[in-house]
Amino acid sequence: MQNPKCGDGDWFAAGMAAAQPRGTQTLEVSGLTVALPTEKGEIRPVSDVSLRVAPGEIVGIVGESGCGKSMTARAVMGLIPAPGRIIAGSVRLAGREIAGLSEREKRAIRGSEISMIFQEPMSSLNPVMKVGWQVAEALRLHSDCTREEARTRTLAAFREVEIPEPEARLRQYPHQLSGGLRQRVMIAMAMICRPKLLIADEPTTALDVTVEAQILRLLERLREGGTSILLISHNLGVIARVCDRVYVMYAGRILEEAETTVLFDQPLHPYSRGLLRASLSLREGVEPLETIPGGVPNLLRLPAGCGFGPRCACRRSECDAAMPELRVVEAGHRVRCFH
Ligand SMILES: Nc1ncnc2c1ncn2[C@@H]1O[C@H](COP(=O)(O)OP(=O)(O)OP(=O)(O)O)[C@@H](O)[C@H]1O
Ligand code: SF4
Ligand SMILES: [Mg+2]
Repeated sequence: MQNPKCGDGDWFAAGMAAAQPRGTQTLEVSGLTVALPTEKGEIRPVSDVSLRVAPGEIVGIVGESGCGKSMTARAVMGLIPAPGRIIAGSVRLAGREIAGLSEREKRAIRGSEISMIFQEPMSSLNPVMKVGWQVAEALRLHSDCTREEARTRTLAAFREVEIPEPEARLRQYPHQLSGGLRQRVMIAMAMICRPKLLIADEPTTALDVTVEAQILRLLERLREGGTSILLISHNLGVIARVCDRVYVMYAGRILEEAETTVLFDQPLHPYSRGLLRASLSLREGVEPLETIPGGVPNLLRLPAGCGFGPRCACRRSECDAAMPELRVVEAGHRVRCFH
């Protein structure tokens, strides 16, 4: 891998996608399937998942807890917990296949070409190291920076993610920062090498609504600089605010794919409709709260035919016979439902 040179820090305006050949997707996942042996048998937390993220696009993955959002992100990052493994499909980053890379090669692209931030930044930050040092080291790992250059770049990155009093913050430990500031540090760390793709897994779930809005604005600014973002959330409000397109996931599979406005105006899959109704009733404080009846299926005992069948009010006899394919309803809008 080519080591990036250590330059000045204006990475929001860097136009990272410009380095990609025209027309190439930043991320293109096809037929991705993950097998994970458990004590009770093998599960497929990700099953035949295909998705794409174009340069400068923010794409959402939404779905209830346990539907496979994080596992999809981990598979893209090459971070599936052992003994899990990818058993089918491909993951292409800016046109290059990365699913079959060796551990060493994966480590080289993580943090430099593809980065991830998580719901709880404390789990990714070292509690006994100053945050400035941690961000600078992330840069030094993938570049030929001197310590001084890395510190300068880190300071610039802290300014870019709008950390107040950045010089003082560099010298603080994670526990001395609020949740919102820790998340900003994580974004600075994830972005310091100007990756092509940022995966944000529930980045605002632990934050109050004001800080959530600030972090979402930050993601939008990154996108304006050309970064592609895969945003994972169970919160449709978050998805609606910043995503260009959305994938709805359930029991390891994509059930619907559409532009955000299309999905919110005209959700076609009964599961997407249920999620939207539940989200609206929560937002409007409707009593009793609308929910989708039943719960997500046990991956060891998936129902025959359509996986959503047992919870679906539109279910008919043919729904139990086979898993529906994802079919194109109109350009950019695909649905996995017989009806
Ligand atoms: N290390 C593991 N061992 C066994 N099963 C796992 C492991 N990690 C995840 N799973 C299972 O894989 C499935 C998908 O999990 P995943 O974490 O991707 O869900 P998610 O959509 O991110 O949920 P959440 O919204 O709660 O984060 C779940 O059924 C989960 O129980
Ligand atoms: S295929 Fe049948 S059971 Fe599945 S979502 Fe569509 S109508 Fe419901
Ligand atoms: Mg998750």
